[in-house]
Amino acid sequence: MPRVENCGIIHRKRSTAENAEVAEDIVVSNLCALRALCGEILFLDAVMLNDVFRELQGASLSNVAKASLSGQIRANTVDGGRGMSRLLYIKVSPRGGRSYSNAVADAFVQAYQDQHPDDEIVTLDLFKTELPSFDGDTIDAKYVILHGGKHTQEQLEAWRAVESIIDQFKSADKYVLSTPMWNFGIPYKLKHYVDVLVQPGYTFTFSPQEGYKGLVLGKPIVVVYARGGEYPPGSDFESYDLQTKYVELILRFIGFTDIRPFIVEPTLMNPALAGQRRDELIGRVAELAVAF
Ligand SMILES: Cc1cc2nc3c(=O)[nH]c(=O)nc-3n(C[C@H](O)[C@H](O)[C@H](O)COP(=O)(O)O)c2cc1C
Repeated sequence: MPRVENCGIIHRKRSTAENAEVAEDIVVSNLCALRALCGEILFLDAVMLNDVFRELQGASLSNVAKASLSGQIRANTVDGGRGMSRLLYIKVSPRGGRSYSNAVADAFVQAYQDQHPDDEIVTLDLFKTELPSFDGDTIDAKYVILHGGKHTQEQLEAWRAVESIIDQFKSADKYVLSTPMWNFGIPYKLKHYVDVLVQPGYTFTFSPQEGYKGLVLGKPIVVVYARGGEYPPGSDFESYDLQTKYVELILRFIGFTDIRPFIVEPTLMNPALAGQRRDELIGRVAELAVAF
């Protein structure tokens, strides 16, 4: 049984000062208990949320507990309070209009927007985005979290850049990811994004009792893959495909179960065939976007 001492719940009906007191009182012995606790947190308005986060930073909790609690409060607040959906489109190929993966994903997102005009679409073009470099204070901050220590001011500031990427990701309800195959895997920009995004207490948890558990739950994702060659299941080349295998693994690791893959190939070996496949998918996206 998880042990929770002096456990309290941050609640919108309390004043900020009362919530701060509750935050200071919370002593959580493990992440399992923390998750149970977070399930009870209700929606906070934005002003109160900022105050609570400030107080939480000063509270006597481990950094993992703080991170997890902050993430869960944000997830409950942003998702729960909005009433419409937010779709995050993560675009990887830097080839613009020449990209096969972008062409299918762009068409899907356009069809989604037509079908769901009130929903918000946020596009994250990774080659046009500066991601936090995972060294210096940032890498030190991660190890402080892993070892349950206390961050320095510099580490806290560096870690905020990581948190803001994670916040953007977790604030979405639905996702579209389009990515090329590069050297049988994924482009380094997407790997960089994964290294920033996948953090204990934010997108997954670990406990000796339950092992690893993803925290991005109940949300669908469309993934469009493009590659120059062909890697058919059962063929000699199947094992070279570390692109779909890695993306699926990491998505499942952080909690996704509803993953809808689309592959455009062989874009270099047979552009005519790949173009035909791309156009077939583009023709189907309107129907796919209705129920997404
Ligand atoms: C740096 C780089 C590495 C690549 N490595 C592979 C590879 O290992 N296997 C493959 O089938 N195609 C490879 N390609 C080809 C791309 O996967 C192909 O051009 C694909 O269409 C790119 O996606 P996009 O059209 O969405 O940009 C590579 C391309 C680049 C630029």
